[in-house]
Amino acid sequence: MNIQKIRQEIPYYGNKIFLNNAGSSLSPNVVTKKIQAFLHQEELFGGYKLEDIQAAQIAAFYKETANLLNCKEQNIAFAHDATDAYIKALSSIPFKTGDVVITSSNDYASNQIQFISLQKRFGIVVKRIAALSNGDIDRNHFQELLQEKTPVLVAITHIPTNSGLIQDVAAIGEICEQHGILYLVDACQSVGQIVVDVQKIKCDFLSATGRKFLRGPRGTGLLFVSDRILQSNMAPLLIDGWGAKWTGLNQFEMKASAKRFETWERSYALIIGLTEAIRYANEIGMDIIEERNIELQRRLRDNLSTIKGVTVYDKGSRLGNLITFKKTGISLEDLKEHLDDHEVYYSVSTLEWGLIDFKEKGVEWVIRFSPHYFNTLEEMDRVASIVAAV
Ligand SMILES: Cc1ncc(COP(=O)(O)O)c(C=O)c1O
Repeated sequence: MNIQKIRQEIPYYGNKIFLNNAGSSLSPNVVTKKIQAFLHQEELFGGYKLEDIQAAQIAAFYKETANLLNCKEQNIAFAHDATDAYIKALSSIPFKTGDVVITSSNDYASNQIQFISLQKRFGIVVKRIAALSNGDIDRNHFQELLQEKTPVLVAITHIPTNSGLIQDVAAIGEICEQHGILYLVDACQSVGQIVVDVQKIKCDFLSATGRKFLRGPRGTGLLFVSDRILQSNMAPLLIDGWGAKWTGLNQFEMKASAKRFETWERSYALIIGLTEAIRYANEIGMDIIEERNIELQRRLRDNLSTIKGVTVYDKGSRLGNLITFKKTGISLEDLKEHLDDHEVYYSVSTLEWGLIDFKEKGVEWVIRFSPHYFNTLEEMDRVASIVAAV
């Protein structure tokens, strides 16, 4: 990996230490250039004509994303963000009163809110797999839940927003496949950070966003939809004239591909930008990106763990690049001010984003650092000194 070149391709990086890739990353400049050029062409030709002219470039989104996730182009849908992708996937499941959804105890808050909405409207039952003391999912408990009542859906967040935990989604996928249960994976924090292979995970749906570890533009996301779902004619509950054709007074015909999970209007400039970001990741190689990310997160975790008064809260047998911590005796306001003064970019995770996990850890907030492959080991050392000095 040519870090020097990669850093030159973030021309406005300056002196900051950018550690908010789990929030919204810095795009390679080629992404921004492509978007700007496309918008300029829209000024010249108007949106519809340009869509025709750029059809091949637009189609490249499906090819690059399929390469990234190890599937076919027809299994990919563009989404406006990860939540849009997730909601469309959920809405395609014909829930009935009493249907069970199994999720984890360390899952994304918005997904949980959606399950609660489904509970209120359709009377579904939500069950959560307990976590082991090391943070991993308790597979014995999962098996027990499966025996109580076969769920209609298992929905797991690969990497939660509030912790460094990487769930073993492939092990869960194996069990779902054995029982023929629908399996939805929220891979919003993992796609672009580590290798994500939908064949290995054996999921039916996988949702992700563009702006985080993929380094794409805001307002973009994607959804993987398995062949099994496509063949069983599942589609979002409320589908539009892009996903389906109105063929008779009371009839419509769905698109054969995962495009039935899209809606008609979208920003093609942003799709072009996202495609470029995915191409950039594919060219470096996700295995190489993952290897580099492991090196960075280990160094930062080790550094922070040795600072007096610092507690690093991440749990799990496999940890990723979301590093969460607090320092005793320092208020959130003072810590934020100190980090801001030193041009450190970070996020704060609060209780409502990890209700079960944070209650168990006994915290109301943590600082979240999320380095990515363009960061350096020197930055991992420097930021630790900054934290030590407060
Ligand atoms: C684990 C996880 N899932 C889903 C989302 C939602 O992503 P988006 O804002 O693109 O809908 C986030 C955002 O932080 C996330 O961390």
